[in-house]
Amino acid sequence: KVEPTISITVVGASGDLAKKKIFPALFALFYEACLPKHFTIFGYARSKMSDEELRNMISRTLTCRIDKRENCGDKMDEFLQRCFYHAGQYTSEEDFLELHRKLKEKEIGRLPNRLFYLSIPPNIFVDVVRCASRRASSESGWTRVIVEKPFGRDSESSGELTRCLKQYLTEDQIFRIDHYLGKELVENLSVLRFSNLVFEPLWSRNCIRNVQLIFSEDFGTEGRGGYFDNYGIIRDIMQNHLLQILALFAMETPVTLEAEDIRNEKVKVLRSMRQLVLDDVIVGQYKGHTKGAKSYPAYIDDPTVPKDSLTPTFAAAALFIDNARWDGVPFLMKAGKALHTKRAEIRVQFRHVPGNLYKRNFGTDLDKATNELVLRVQPDEAIYLKINNKVPGLGMRLDRSDLNLLYKARYTKEIPDAYERLLLDAIEGERRLFIRSDELDAAWKLFTPVLTELEEKKIAPELYPYGSRGPIGAHYLAAKHNVRWGDLS
Ligand code: BG6
Repeated sequence: KVEPTISITVVGASGDLAKKKIFPALFALFYEACLPKHFTIFGYARSKMSDEELRNMISRTLTCRIDKRENCGDKMDEFLQRCFYHAGQYTSEEDFLELHRKLKEKEIGRLPNRLFYLSIPPNIFVDVVRCASRRASSESGWTRVIVEKPFGRDSESSGELTRCLKQYLTEDQIFRIDHYLGKELVENLSVLRFSNLVFEPLWSRNCIRNVQLIFSEDFGTEGRGGYFDNYGIIRDIMQNHLLQILALFAMETPVTLEAEDIRNEKVKVLRSMRQLVLDDVIVGQYKGHTKGAKSYPAYIDDPTVPKDSLTPTFAAAALFIDNARWDGVPFLMKAGKALHTKRAEIRVQFRHVPGNLYKRNFGTDLDKATNELVLRVQPDEAIYLKINNKVPGLGMRLDRSDLNLLYKARYTKEIPDAYERLLLDAIEGERRLFIRSDELDAAWKLFTPVLTELEEKKIAPELYPYGSRGPIGAHYLAAKHNVRWGDLS
């Protein structure tokens, strides 16, 4: 019986993502013995580099994150010996044919499967897919291509990209990555909801008042301004990462855990969403700020960003799902760069207990008595539930306390990076955590009109100081929907 082998080609091998995420994730999979027995890794980029130089470059970002006590130098050497480099242009079929020849040499006597990871700017996606599929596809095994966002800038350009990719690949061969779907807590969302009786029956408008999806970073777009200015925070974070979480959160129970069943439910809920309107969006942009001896730059101080840029680095939005389960429940999103903290979380605020016997203990503010479930995606993964509790003692004083599942206190094993899970899934042909084209389409339909309006009307973002909690407008938006941001209360 012929044994399979897999060739993984990282196109754009000298880029940041490849160095920081993809090669380290491949190494971690190798270290954990998750890669198939026979595999080869190729780096593909334009600059001239020898295999040895590629190995040196990779080794600088490889870490032994899995077992810090152990010296994994031997494993690293073993891994690096399986890495090779091929210099080529991204638009040259000839250069991909040359790669094909090199891959074939490594595949002799085995069933060849090929995975291409496109870690390249979007303007060359289609060229690379054309060249790779025509000249470097596997002849007898499978060929799969992982693509990274941005998948277009709006419905139209995304549709165009999908059409172009489908000239060369079938939908089954395309693995659209959204790395938030590979995060531990995001994967756990379905487990929490569908396998716990204490949550499953509460998961609807009957008990949930609002849901908040919050992303914040405590650094600006340093070094990425050129890319970012063309997209902005809504396209960079909301339309993909936060919306994907929302879809998983809000979907109906899938028939099974198979990829198609899950993606069918996600697309259904996305299509049930009300188109976002400008009145339900606020945008911000960070300005320079001095704190003590340190000064922080404004977004427009980035030399690759135009001085009059209106690109939002912060946005908040209120979204609604017009179906029976979620009718009237606001799903609030908030995403920003250069804020006071780095955090991603999902907050679920429950309704008041009807006729709460203890309401006088909460003064006039019954909101203080509602339960809140928080899934902290990062940092410090945790799930906690805010409950009302009697403060021990002779009196009857209540406070809100946490039932707290802090991962690092409960589990000793380190949590894998999102890219490890997603790469492994792509290698194994598991599509559950990748975005299908109809999901992408539905996601763009939701945001495109508002993005166009923001640009056409040249809506000026509200300025907020670097390192602050973001524009005040986010509070007004929440208040309009009778919501308080849980991360600020
Ligand atoms: C990327 C965005 O998709 O996600 C970046 O393009 C952002 O702007 C990054 O910084 C955040 O990812 P993580 O995993 O570090 O939270």
